[in-house]
Amino acid sequence: MNAPDLARRIEELRQQLRHHEHLYYVLDAPEISDGGYDALMNELKRLEAEHPEQITADSPTQRVGGKPAEGFQKAQHSRPMLSLDNAYSVEDLAAWDRRVRELAAGFPIEYAAELKLDGLSVALRYEPAADGVARLAKGLTRGDGQTGEDVTSNLRTIHSVPLGIAANHLQKAGALQGKAFEVRGEVVMPEAAFQRVNEEREQAGLPAFVNPRNAAAGTLRTLEPSIVASRRLVFFAYFLLVDGEYSAAGQTTTLETLATLGFRVNPHRRRVATVEEMIQFIDQAEAERDQLGYEIDGVVLKVDAQATQQRLGYTGRAPRWAIAYKFTARSGVTRVEGITVQVGRTGKLTPVAELAPVFIGGTTVSRATLHNADFILGLGLRIGDWVRIERGGDVIPKVVEVVEDAEHPRGEVAFSFPSECPECNSPVVRAAGEVDWRCVNADCPAKLRESLLHFSRREVMNVEGLGEAVVQQLLDRGLVRSVADLYALTAEQLTDLDRFAEKSAQALLAEIEGSKQAGLARVLMGLGIRFVGERTAELLAEEYGSIDALMAASAEELERVDEVGPRIAQAMREFFAQPANRALVEALRGSGVDMTAEKRQRTTQLAGLTFVLTGALPTLTRDEAKRRIEAAGGKVTGSVSKKTNYVVAGEEAGSKLDKAQSLGVPVLDETALLALLAAQLPS
Ligand code: IVH
Repeated sequence: MNAPDLARRIEELRQQLRHHEHLYYVLDAPEISDGGYDALMNELKRLEAEHPEQITADSPTQRVGGKPAEGFQKAQHSRPMLSLDNAYSVEDLAAWDRRVRELAAGFPIEYAAELKLDGLSVALRYEPAADGVARLAKGLTRGDGQTGEDVTSNLRTIHSVPLGIAANHLQKAGALQGKAFEVRGEVVMPEAAFQRVNEEREQAGLPAFVNPRNAAAGTLRTLEPSIVASRRLVFFAYFLLVDGEYSAAGQTTTLETLATLGFRVNPHRRRVATVEEMIQFIDQAEAERDQLGYEIDGVVLKVDAQATQQRLGYTGRAPRWAIAYKFTARSGVTRVEGITVQVGRTGKLTPVAELAPVFIGGTTVSRATLHNADFILGLGLRIGDWVRIERGGDVIPKVVEVVEDAEHPRGEVAFSFPSECPECNSPVVRAAGEVDWRCVNADCPAKLRESLLHFSRREVMNVEGLGEAVVQQLLDRGLVRSVADLYALTAEQLTDLDRFAEKSAQALLAEIEGSKQAGLARVLMGLGIRFVGERTAELLAEEYGSIDALMAASAEELERVDEVGPRIAQAMREFFAQPANRALVEALRGSGVDMTAEKRQRTTQLAGLTFVLTGALPTLTRDEAKRRIEAAGGKVTGSVSKKTNYVVAGEEAGSKLDKAQSLGVPVLDETALLALLAAQLPS
């Protein structure tokens, strides 16, 4: 091949590869097989290997790692991140304990018992700086244990990851000044954050994460640090390497040192000496599991003394001095005795499996949601079928499959989804493109009941004591016809209800009175506007400051609010377009319900500052960086002059960087830019 032909062929291959990568990774719509792709890639690799002078930084062969998270650099771990051997029973634990004692040859053994956090492990490298502070220099995911991905800018957004550790803490933690060290631990997504992320994803039409671990992993690989920041991940530290060595006297001292350094260390830990004590700790962990607020999948036991750990050493992939006791999967098999259909406050019909009670993971499960008609079809579920039920960390039982074998024969009765609302008998409708059937009768009693229950929830208007039994009585007696009627209830009316005395009536009235001060965000949630969950309500409230401003806003204006897309904006407009809803707002206002919020201060501290962007930033796109600077009041221009305040430079920055340096204009990298932007946020 002559030189021009070669150059042409290389360019052709690159274009094709980019095209197919875009189809595959971005659009999720590949047009060629993996094999076809590989053939193109191999040809390009071969040509580049034969003519290395032709390699460019943007060639598809130069994409680091490629597969899972494009955009993150791979990096070698200072020491491999090992995994743990597993134990599934008391016998396994006893066998392990015996082996440890044998190998330790008479040394007294104590174990550090910790929770096995169900997240993903990361390694944080801290480096000493001239000012005596140790700074977070790099954060890697576990990857394959040898190499991980550099997700530093995402880890920086986690509040439990210290960015710098002051000299006095380093001193207190055992003369760590001037040393490089590495902290390892687990990043978890708390239950509450998980629920919220999935709500938001649902609102945005994205598939939900299946569990908090996947959500945490997905989040850490997000290319946009501000999204990571909003997800409220938590880092628990459990491992420390100083200058590449295990330096502490043992695991217990390591955890204490980490706490001294300012890391979050899980408080559920104990020193144990016998298998019996291990089991006590395990039982306690299982009992507390549902109240932790984050998921665990077992308990880790580690030989405490470092000297003994060294003596025991490692097998190929795991230390001999530690073991993970895995909780047994919380699942069970039971029979579907019936399928009922519930009506929600939006009129949505939800089928529910009525189960023969089954004990799973500490509680008795007798009902499980079947989500919608399609879910039932997907399972092929009939009444009388046996099903496997799983309980995740989120406590809500899930139907995972129909079980069929000799002991579990198939059910006989097919389920047909009702064509009428089970509560008011009006016909149900399913809008094009939606999975849910709805009752659209505005006066459906189920909707009112569910709206009242929703309105009084702790996360919404927080009216304690307004549970199902009370709400049902209020409805039966015709005392409330909308949520606004709650504010007109009297002590006489309440004392008339079953199991109500003067005192309980006064308590409920005080709760109702107190809810008037809940503020605009909660009122917005309480109104039950479609897609407006907690976070959206807060953002809207902060932005607009009053219900009147919100009702006057056009869909276009609403969409300018962070995280508000066309679906939410339209739902807001539709809601306030209905006279009945406007009347409800007025009735609430008339009752004295506060419908204002403190408006967020616009950030303007970057006002008057001019930025120039050059080169590729590690995580932010050019547009995103520009948008953020402008949102903080700054200006972004194309060329560097003496008037430029900052040049933000990424990889492959060219002449603009040279110019900045020759003019003495300060140069920021992405991390510094993010820090500057973060510093501008109103507190
Ligand atoms: S110690 C060499 N402690 O479990 C020791 N690991 O199955 C390495 N994990 O990759 C780990 N909680 O991601 C340790 N308290 C804990 C843990 C823990 C969760 C994870 C970790 C590790 C995996 C091994």
